[in-house]
Amino acid sequence: MSDVGSIKSRISGSVRSISAYSVPRIECSVRLDGNESPYDLEGEEKAALSERLAKLPVNRYPDPEALGVRTSLSRAVGFPVDGILLGNGSDEIIQMIVEVFGGKSGRVLVPSPTFSMYRITSLILGKQVTEVELDENFDIDLEQTLEAIRAQDPDIVFLATPNNPTGNSFSEEKVLEILEASGGAVVVDEAYCDFSKKSYIPHIDKYENLLVLRTMSKIGFAGARLGMFFAQPQVAGEVNKARLPYNINSFSQDVMSFALESPEVIERKISLILSERERVRASLERIEDIHVYPTDANFFLVRVPDADFLFEELVKNDILVRRFKGEGRLANCLRITVGTREENDRLTQALVGIFSS
Ligand SMILES: Cc1ncc(COP(=O)(O)O)c(C=O)c1O
Repeated sequence: MSDVGSIKSRISGSVRSISAYSVPRIECSVRLDGNESPYDLEGEEKAALSERLAKLPVNRYPDPEALGVRTSLSRAVGFPVDGILLGNGSDEIIQMIVEVFGGKSGRVLVPSPTFSMYRITSLILGKQVTEVELDENFDIDLEQTLEAIRAQDPDIVFLATPNNPTGNSFSEEKVLEILEASGGAVVVDEAYCDFSKKSYIPHIDKYENLLVLRTMSKIGFAGARLGMFFAQPQVAGEVNKARLPYNINSFSQDVMSFALESPEVIERKISLILSERERVRASLERIEDIHVYPTDANFFLVRVPDADFLFEELVKNDILVRRFKGEGRLANCLRITVGTREENDRLTQALVGIFSS
């Protein structure tokens, strides 16, 4: 058998230097760790979708361009169909963008802290990643970011707004200044825009370098893995070259069509999450030892005296939240997704119990 060390030496240093993105599987019945929607489709909705999926010819490849779904999405969003791409989650679109921009020695700029897949994907694809710390309010540090753009001329800047894991939206004027100052692509990731009700899609007309991402994952369809990309058609055409054939399977295409035909189902659940968000905010703020950061998303970042202790205590209460490895800005922070009314009540009861004992 060959020496494992020798085969590892053929793997690039940047891949070996990073840890894999891993989602720990801890079985808890209240899952507030993944920023998913807590609401599955209900009885009749689920039956209608199942009936539709049952009719799919499983022996056939899916529509390679997902044209039917992209056309419906184009109508729903009011955006030209040839500027829209779909991905197997926005994760896949992030990968396509990183592949296409900048070539082998490409440079990627990301704020910190932010969604970790920008960095992981960039390093795996051999790019140089620069991180610029967010300011004390977790907003963009404009001066430092513009300085980094001037010094390094990055091929891609990633900005998630609202940002994960901090929850806040970035100031619009700062995002627009970055768009003006960047020669490379500026990816505005709107994974949580359904909760902030703000979008940069209307700016795409003006900025050739603006690429907007969205996802169905946070509004009830995480299992179908559906990410969306919007940009000027000539930019979409280039990114599309990195898309694997048939990347959206038939089942997911049908789920997306179903979702686009039932906007009221989605909207009703978003409204429920938004009103629950206010209840969760109020109950978290009543606990003296918890610092609650402002959020525009479907989750809260909180700082507590001992995040590991609280995480374990919540698991004992059958509640899973997200904790972060390491120190830095996220030391002693936990991220808590807004759940159903019952789940949120269980969270509050558990927290009150833990902090009063
Ligand atoms: C900011 C941000 N972008 C992208 C994603 C990935 O979404 P998807 O499920 O569409 O791959 C996430 C998931 O948590 C996210 O927080």
